[in-house]
Amino acid sequence: MSRTIAHISDLHFGREDPPVAAALREELTARGPRLVAVSGDLTQRARAVQFRAARAFLDQLSGPVLVVPGNHDVPLFDVFSRFARPLRNYRRYIASEADAFFHEEDLAVMGVNTARSWTFKNGRISREQIERIRDRFAPLPERVFKVIVTHHPFVPSPGDPDPSLVGRGVHALQAAEAAGVDLLLAGHLHVGFCGDVRAHHLSIKRSMLVAQAGTAISVRTRGEPNTYNWITIEPPHLVIDVRGWDGTGFATRSLTRWVKRAQDEWERESP
Ligand SMILES: [Fe+2]
Ligand SMILES: [Fe+2]
Repeated sequence: MSRTIAHISDLHFGREDPPVAAALREELTARGPRLVAVSGDLTQRARAVQFRAARAFLDQLSGPVLVVPGNHDVPLFDVFSRFARPLRNYRRYIASEADAFFHEEDLAVMGVNTARSWTFKNGRISREQIERIRDRFAPLPERVFKVIVTHHPFVPSPGDPDPSLVGRGVHALQAAEAAGVDLLLAGHLHVGFCGDVRAHHLSIKRSMLVAQAGTAISVRTRGEPNTYNWITIEPPHLVIDVRGWDGTGFATRSLTRWVKRAQDEWERESP
C-alpha cells in the first residue's frame, strides 16, 4: 500500500473560504491518501457551530483521519470553559483522544496535543506525552516509517527573528530521535516550508524532516495562498508536494524531493 499523507492544517472553520474548502474536500476524496493528518486549529473560536462544520468536513473525507487540536480549538473568551474544560467541544465533535495514534503496517503516525489553557501561545508538551512518544514507537520495527503531528512548530519559519516554538520541544525531539522518528508535521504559522530539524536544533543528532503546512482553507493567509502538503514516502525517497489554491483549484506550487543517504541523513535532491 502506498504511503501517502495529506497534511492539512489551520482550517479555522468560522473563517473558512467555502469554495476552497469544497475544492480541498473534492481533491482529497479523488486522491485517496493513506491518511489525512490535520495539524490543528480546526476552528476560529472553538465554538460548537464551528466544530460541527469541521466535523462535517472530516466526515466527507474517505479513509482514516488523524487530528490534533490547536490553540484556536481552546475557548479564548469563555474563561470558565478555557480552564475547566478546554477541549470539551474538541472531544465532543472531533476526537475523544487528544493524542491520537495511527499504525497500519509500515506507517505509524502519532498526534501530540500542544494546545494549552494558559497563555502558552506557543503550546507545550507534557512529560507524560514525551513518555508516550517513547512507549508508542519503541516496539515498532525499523521498517515502520514514524511521524509525529503537532499544532505548534519545533522550528521557526525561515528568517523569523523571533521564533516562537513549542514548550519542551527539545525534550520531545530527543524522545523522537531515540524512537527513530523521521518526519514532524505541524501548522500554526500559516506559512509552509520544509527542512531538517537539525538546522535549528544543534543538540539533535538524528536527521528528521520537518514539514510545516500553510492554512488549507481559511482566509487568514499570511502572504501566501491556501496550501496543504501531499507527502509521498517511498524509502529512501520522500516527496513533499505543496498544493496551493490558484483561484480555481489546487495545483502544485513546489515539489521538494528528499533522499535518505547513508548514516540516516536526509538530503534535499531539489530545491
Ligand atoms: Fe491557525
Ligand atoms: Fe494556531
